[in-house]
Amino acid sequence: MALSRRHFLLGSSSALMLSACSSPLLTVDSAPGYDYVLTAQPHPIELIPGTTTPAWCFNQAYPMEPLRAKQGQPVRILFRNRLAEPTTIHWHGLRIPIQMDGVPFLSQPPVAPGSDFLYEFTPPDAGTFWFHPHVNSLQQLGRGLVGALIVEEADAVAFDQDITLLLKNWHLTEDGEFAPFTSPRNAARMGTPGNWETVNGAVKPTIEVPCGARVRLRFLNVDNTVMYTLAAAGVNATVIAIDGNPVAKPFLLEPHKIGPGMRLDVAINTPKEAGKTVKIRNGKGKLFFDLVSFVTAGQPNPNPTLTIPTLPLNPIKEVNLSKAEELNFVFEWEGAITPAAKNGKTQHQFWTINRRAWQGMSAQSIPEPVANLKLGGHYVFNLRNVTPHAHPIHLHGYTWKVLESNKREITPYHTDTVLLEKNERVKVAFVADNPGRWMYHCHVIEHMKTGLMGYIRVA
Ligand code: C2O
Ligand code: CU
Ligand code: CU
Repeated sequence: MALSRRHFLLGSSSALMLSACSSPLLTVDSAPGYDYVLTAQPHPIELIPGTTTPAWCFNQAYPMEPLRAKQGQPVRILFRNRLAEPTTIHWHGLRIPIQMDGVPFLSQPPVAPGSDFLYEFTPPDAGTFWFHPHVNSLQQLGRGLVGALIVEEADAVAFDQDITLLLKNWHLTEDGEFAPFTSPRNAARMGTPGNWETVNGAVKPTIEVPCGARVRLRFLNVDNTVMYTLAAAGVNATVIAIDGNPVAKPFLLEPHKIGPGMRLDVAINTPKEAGKTVKIRNGKGKLFFDLVSFVTAGQPNPNPTLTIPTLPLNPIKEVNLSKAEELNFVFEWEGAITPAAKNGKTQHQFWTINRRAWQGMSAQSIPEPVANLKLGGHYVFNLRNVTPHAHPIHLHGYTWKVLESNKREITPYHTDTVLLEKNERVKVAFVADNPGRWMYHCHVIEHMKTGLMGYIRVA
């Protein structure tokens, strides 16, 4: 799809609103970049055939069309909260100013029901990103408020087709109602897995692709809980980007794990003849199951281009390791259940960062950061998981360079979310060049909600 300066994605009511009102930022028609209206609201969808699920959706669809932006060009997104509760939108993986980070109290007041908020930023990096609320996350993400944000490379990359694939495992009863998103027992372990595994809202979908084509597959784990282990069947697949960031040297996809919040961009060359199927499968334990199939359709292509286009690297500052300061973070299982809070509700706390569990936050009380960093400083974080469970550890506003692990061979790569397996230690590095208070948490939502969350202050 060719993108021109202005690109609107509007529901019918939003189109009306746009023409009727004169918000100055949305009527400057000659401004460069992209404008969107993004509305969050309850919207029933059909996940289990023949049933209705009372989902909460963006722009009345699950999944909504990915938002598309271009590296280095401004994006304006008028967000409209039409839920019955407050929310915010966080742009996962984007290195943008703190005012746009979408964390209630830390970066902006929550957006009240019926209110709007204008998100405006210029993505510095190209790649596969996503967005989600940062309020009541178990419910809001669990009910469907997740979407893809694709930032196209400043100079177009030649793929014949580009497919975005949102992986989500819904918590449903037989008749399509929501089942509980959490239980204390599961929150203290690996989290509560859903029972309805979907790719773009469908179970094991088959997607048509052209014959002999170079196809870019963008996988996003937008689930609250589950890990996916992606593997190719019937085709060579090449990993071209991890968590949005191009890898320096593309490599053949061997089973690759992505935890909640993480992404993987894979390139495939489709078969020359029509009617051929290739698959991406998901490993569970030792077994692999079909996740999504691609079937060639249309004219056969006897002379396909077999090379994979290279993605330019994102402009991430190199860390000077000799002068970097090292900080240690230990992710631990505490196993305590705090007695009922003042409001009578039990507040479970199972997980800690450096022996501290997240106590929650309000306009009146913002906890201390887990670390204070100097703006412009070079840092190495030693991340240490001393629990028997995996944790996808995520930092807002930054991209880490992953340097080494005590468990696996690492070819350094860039990421906003690093998966720590049980008892794994990982070293990551970055330049603290983005001032603000940045959330730092496990992306297993039940872990983050029961303690495994904090923030880092860069000033
Ligand atoms: Cu997807 Cu706080 O992050
Ligand atoms: Cu994030
Ligand atoms: Cu975790």
